[in-house]
Amino acid sequence: MNDVLKKDKLPRHIAMIMDGNGRWAEKHGKIRVKGHEAGVRTVDQMVSLCAEIGIEVLTLYAFSSENWQRPAKEVSALMRLLRHYLKREGERLLKEGIRLKAIGRLERLEAGVRQELEEACRKTAGGTNMTLNLAISYGGRDEICDAVQALCRKVQAGELECKAIDDKLLTAHLDTAGLPDPDIMVRTGGEYRISNFLLWQLAYTEFYFSDTLWPDFSKEELLKIISDFQQRERRFGRVL
Ligand code: FPP
Repeated sequence: MNDVLKKDKLPRHIAMIMDGNGRWAEKHGKIRVKGHEAGVRTVDQMVSLCAEIGIEVLTLYAFSSENWQRPAKEVSALMRLLRHYLKREGERLLKEGIRLKAIGRLERLEAGVRQELEEACRKTAGGTNMTLNLAISYGGRDEICDAVQALCRKVQAGELECKAIDDKLLTAHLDTAGLPDPDIMVRTGGEYRISNFLLWQLAYTEFYFSDTLWPDFSKEELLKIISDFQQRERRFGRVL
């Protein structure tokens, strides 16, 4: 299936905005939650494909800081799905050497989800095949504000000089510290925006917008995107 990919030009980090669950449900005459449930199956497929072909980091936008404003019923259904996913997949991630990481304001999560998340992250911490990075209760602007506050505290404590704050230091204070920036950002569901996702980290990322609704997004489509990415010339602002 992945014979067409050039092994020496694989993206290290793929980031995905999983959009279109609600519309998928509507299209099939189901309630929105059924769309999210169907979306979890696509999550499973993307995790196995990325691990199989040797992607280092897969970041999935599972719940944004703005998603808290959805109806309480939908929020609790999403939290339930996350909790079940972590409970169900923890073992599989461990077996496959996939390290689970989470970014976002996790302190806002209810205790049950948080415990399951911490447990899965702790259990899989030694995984070296791939990092599955879940953005939960995540907003790019929040993340940058939190990093700036952490730097300010260091300046106030006399541990850091303002003029020492540069790109590298701010990067090291983000939730994604230690991860490479995404090479590819895919958004499904036909919308052309980034919705507060990884605002700092996407500076030189290649963007792909797919009209496919997330539950219908397939391994084949991701392979096509990766193959297209391998043809792109990335200059990072320089002249080649
Ligand atoms: C956007 O679709 C999707 C979400 C807000 C949630 C994504 C969550 C999952 C796929 C399931 C849980 C995740 C994991 C990792 C287990 P939308 O509801 O905005 O769709 P719409 O634009 O068609 O309404």
